[in-house]
Amino acid sequence: MLRILVCVSGGGTNLQAIMDSISDGRITDTKIVKVISNKEDAYALTRARNAGIDAVCISSGQYGRREDFYDALCSEVDAGRPDLIVLAGFLVVIPEKMIQKYSNRIMNIHPSLIPSFCGKGYYGLKVHEGALKRGVKITGATVHFVDEGTDTGPIILQKAVTIEEGDTPEILQRRVMEQAEWVILPRAINLFAHGKIHVDQGITSISE
Ligand code: GRF
Repeated sequence: MLRILVCVSGGGTNLQAIMDSISDGRITDTKIVKVISNKEDAYALTRARNAGIDAVCISSGQYGRREDFYDALCSEVDAGRPDLIVLAGFLVVIPEKMIQKYSNRIMNIHPSLIPSFCGKGYYGLKVHEGALKRGVKITGATVHFVDEGTDTGPIILQKAVTIEEGDTPEILQRRVMEQAEWVILPRAINLFAHGKIHVDQGITSISE
């Protein structure tokens, strides 16, 4: 049984997609052991609590120093004894010691086709604003392992989404979530749960 710990900061629709996928069998042999948010008002925490999942808020405001916040976050993660950590809209830079400890065991969902519209400053609606401003016709989402960079780790899955006439950043964000994020994140977790993701020199391969 794969133990996953999900880190969230917002509405939790990706968390909900994971929960629903476990319920309907798109993800098997997997259990969400804990949800951690850096925002007490994140609706994602409510989703977890309503499902009877241990949900904890660790926010930087509770700690005087950044290092103390990071220590508390790492301790809370370690206490969950996760096999896999999933960043589902988690707006906190992951401490290096956690990345090293959980090498190729931290997954992130990013709402673009990396390497486009990613890296510092590209998060949430800003990603879709960038795509619309550039005039690309195709965007999408990417699931990747987290390394020391920003959105630079080994790419696991990607899914393309077309941009339509009249799209606003909000409309596009919703389409990317519905058509891409909520599909490839559960799929990536299930592949990981069944040992089907292999990383060689920063490049992943999927064994079916
Ligand atoms: C999603 O758009 C995701 O791509 C980005 O943050 C947002 C999280 O949304 N990383 P939710 O909290 O899962 O609804």
